[in-house]
Amino acid sequence: MPPSFRIEALSAAHDRRDFSCGIEALDGYLARQAGQDMRRRVSNCFVALPEGGAAIAGYYTLAAASIPVQDLPPEQTRRLPRYPVLPAVLIGRLAVDHRFKGQQLGAALLFDAILRALRAEPAVLTVLVDAKDDTAASFYRHHGFQAFSARPQTLFLPIDTAARLLQAGSN
Ligand SMILES: CC(C)(COP(=O)(O)OP(=O)(O)OC[C@H]1O[C@@H](n2cnc3c(N)ncnc32)[C@H](O)[C@@H]1OP(=O)(O)O)[C@@H](O)C(=O)NCCC(=O)NCCS
Repeated sequence: MPPSFRIEALSAAHDRRDFSCGIEALDGYLARQAGQDMRRRVSNCFVALPEGGAAIAGYYTLAAASIPVQDLPPEQTRRLPRYPVLPAVLIGRLAVDHRFKGQQLGAALLFDAILRALRAEPAVLTVLVDAKDDTAASFYRHHGFQAFSARPQTLFLPIDTAARLLQAGSN
């Protein structure tokens, strides 16, 4: 985490009107939909705030998900029981306000989401992300995610990478 930010659950105390990441759908989601999704328990939203400031610098969403075992490459499932569907968590959206880009905040949000997912009490095997476009997919690949051959817009975090991150986060 860059030293000057903290990450917490979105609440009514946060001012979300001025958030601007360059993608209208992601700005609009935070302004109009994220709180409602939390209240309805379909997706949680976590925001990064600069120390001493109220403006939202970045956010991500997190929700329970599942993945059919045959969608994962065989090397990821070789040691697993033959359950047809495996437990996962989905980072549906992740964005950084243009004023805060290039400060490792996107990476810090991603790391926070992965740790939160893997430390959850229900078992989670892998973390999935929805990439909105090629630039987003390239950001996730840079951080170790791999694309599914059958689902070009969704990427997953290989299980050994997730385990290493969890280990690093608990040290
Ligand atoms: C993609 C996004 C989240 C990156 O946020 P950021 O805070 O500017 O990125 P960071 O400073 O944390 O970058 C961390 C690392 O990722 C790399 N990176 C950033 N964007 C990248 C991209 N599109 N492709 C590949 N690598 C990327 C950086 O070079 C940096 O690498 P390093 O640690 O090896 O030096 C941000 O540009 C954004 O909000 N974009 C619009 C919304 C979006 O596309 N969201 C993603 C999917 S919904």
